[in-house]
Amino acid sequence: MTEYGVFLPVAAGGWMISETAPYPPATYEYNKQVAQLAEGMGLDFIMAMAKWRGFGGTTDHWGESLESMTMMAGLAEATSTIKVWATVHANLVNPAFAAKVFSTLQQIAQGRIGMNIVNGSYADEFEAMGAWDPNMTHAERYRMTNEWVDVVTQLWEKDSVTFDGEFFTLTDCESRPRPSIKPEIISAGRSESGRDFQATWSDGGFLGSDSLEQMAEFSRDVHARAAAKGRTTKTYSMLTIVLAETDEAAEAKAALYGAGLDREALSNMRRSWGWDADRALSWAEDAKGEEAFQTPYVVGSPATIIDRIRNVVTTAELDGLMLIFPDYVNDMPVFGETVLPSLRAADDQATAAA
Ligand SMILES: Cc1cc2nc3c(=O)[nH]c(=O)nc-3n(C[C@H](O)[C@H](O)[C@H](O)COP(=O)(O)O)c2cc1C
Repeated sequence: MTEYGVFLPVAAGGWMISETAPYPPATYEYNKQVAQLAEGMGLDFIMAMAKWRGFGGTTDHWGESLESMTMMAGLAEATSTIKVWATVHANLVNPAFAAKVFSTLQQIAQGRIGMNIVNGSYADEFEAMGAWDPNMTHAERYRMTNEWVDVVTQLWEKDSVTFDGEFFTLTDCESRPRPSIKPEIISAGRSESGRDFQATWSDGGFLGSDSLEQMAEFSRDVHARAAAKGRTTKTYSMLTIVLAETDEAAEAKAALYGAGLDREALSNMRRSWGWDADRALSWAEDAKGEEAFQTPYVVGSPATIIDRIRNVVTTAELDGLMLIFPDYVNDMPVFGETVLPSLRAADDQATAAA
């Protein structure tokens, strides 16, 4: 069964960098509405990212954002069946602290909690808080995160942990009560280290890629690496949905969203990815409207969206998708009525045929 979830708009503006797109607010009330809609529709999970600094521009994109773990504590209480995946930065949070936070969250969620582990790849947000080590390489960050999750899972399993690692030292460290059900581990990455981390530790891994074919390659790689370790890791990706009654109306919506591309915020986002300021500025000045979409997206009527989503899932060999809606509260009910039932039915047929 393909899993479908929602990427909660925990940061203002969601995943559209545009003056002419809807602007989901970074409020708990809005995210609660989205979470409850997702559960009502029968989606499988909600996930909230962790972000510490926005990108400015005319839209102040992501300038306001809520903290992921505390928001998800509330949403775990506000929901009852959907899986709840909160994000934690291994580079910021001591593993003993995180172990207890997620044991607590697991009690609130009654077994539905997932821990999305990220290791902080965007320098500016950590430089701002004096928490960026410019000498730490990508490989070192993953070595640190491997130790971090090792310690966290040991604390969930043992009464006392003593650990003398390259990055962490624990002496008779306790974290009780232990979670009755181990929180699911989630992570996101596309590099080889990222994929290896997913295969080693994660129940679910989010992939990024330049094409569906490359996504399939990465997905097969994660599945194979996990199998070699005697584990299973499900693979996911993100997809933004622009849905309307007809293809023409949906295309018009997408064009409208693209017309208001916030070039300043776009350029600042590229800079935060490590691009040189001049290059980011000139690239953003020439960027097409489609760059207003921060993720891959599909546009169309319900029938078209069903085809496109099935094509993404099968071509990219994914176990699930995390959906993004430009206008969550208005788009999700339509998706729930006109698209999701067909996706579920197609899955049921495929399962029956297998
Ligand atoms: C679905 C998804 C969610 C992510 N969420 C976060 C996040 O909340 N915070 C963050 O700092 N990075 C986040 N990232 C970035 C990843 O953790 C990772 O740094 C990035 O994909 C680069 O991959 P690599 O580590 O393999 O180089 C996310 C990436 C994806 C694809």
